[in-house]
Amino acid sequence: MISIKSDREIEIMKEAGYINYLTHQELKKHLKPGITTNELNDIADKFIRSHGGKPSCLGFEGYPKSICISINDEVVHGIPSNRKIKKGDIVSFDFCTEYKGYNSDSANTYIVGDEAEQNVKDLVKYTEEALYVGLKEIKPGAKIGDIGHAIEEFAHEHGLSVVEALVGHGVGTSIHEDPDVPNFGEKGTGLTLKKGMVIAVEPMLNLGTKEVCILDDGWTIVTEDEMPSAHFEHTVVVTEDGYEILTGDKK
Ligand code: MF3
Ligand code: CO
Repeated sequence: MISIKSDREIEIMKEAGYINYLTHQELKKHLKPGITTNELNDIADKFIRSHGGKPSCLGFEGYPKSICISINDEVVHGIPSNRKIKKGDIVSFDFCTEYKGYNSDSANTYIVGDEAEQNVKDLVKYTEEALYVGLKEIKPGAKIGDIGHAIEEFAHEHGLSVVEALVGHGVGTSIHEDPDVPNFGEKGTGLTLKKGMVIAVEPMLNLGTKEVCILDDGWTIVTEDEMPSAHFEHTVVVTEDGYEILTGDKK
């Protein structure tokens, strides 16, 4: 079942999304060589709670931490640990914040110290652009397949592969709701978007193969060829004539 959110629900989701945005800004300030991913997790956890939110990844399907931090060949769902951040690491922060029972979900990827090979810099830049290329398709009457098609075409134009094993999703009182929002597909296929639907679009693009595997921790998704991956995500609501980002800078 795909839920249509009321104006009241969307107002609450905007608050959830704004806490998410602010937390990303806070994490970015602390992302420096030497800090551990556990320390970053704890900074985010405290920040979210002090802003009236709940870090809703914690305990979601048994997930053990408050945020996901995925480094280099890790695509998504990396678990914070005593691992220290190094210069040149490609680090993605991905997490959900809940406010008054409603969720938001957003991800960003950074290169630590801005020092990397040009192809890695391009991977991060084009993955972020791919998110907006996908979002541009969103309006009432458009199809879910339009989003994935646009992302896939853009990724391939830039020589990047699209992870197919994981997809975007609806967001609401649960982190993952219907529908699935793939980052690949055919134009004009799939569900028709309607005003009031809230979805998370989250391209995961790789420099090498699109194939991924899961580590023994049961969560961390890595590229099969150990080449770098990047990930960007926003939660958006379908509006009268397009979409509005709920996890951006609204104020
Ligand atoms: N953006 C991630 C996803 O949709 C957030 C996962 S939260 C976790 O999968 F609990 F699963 F880690
Ligand atoms: Co998500």
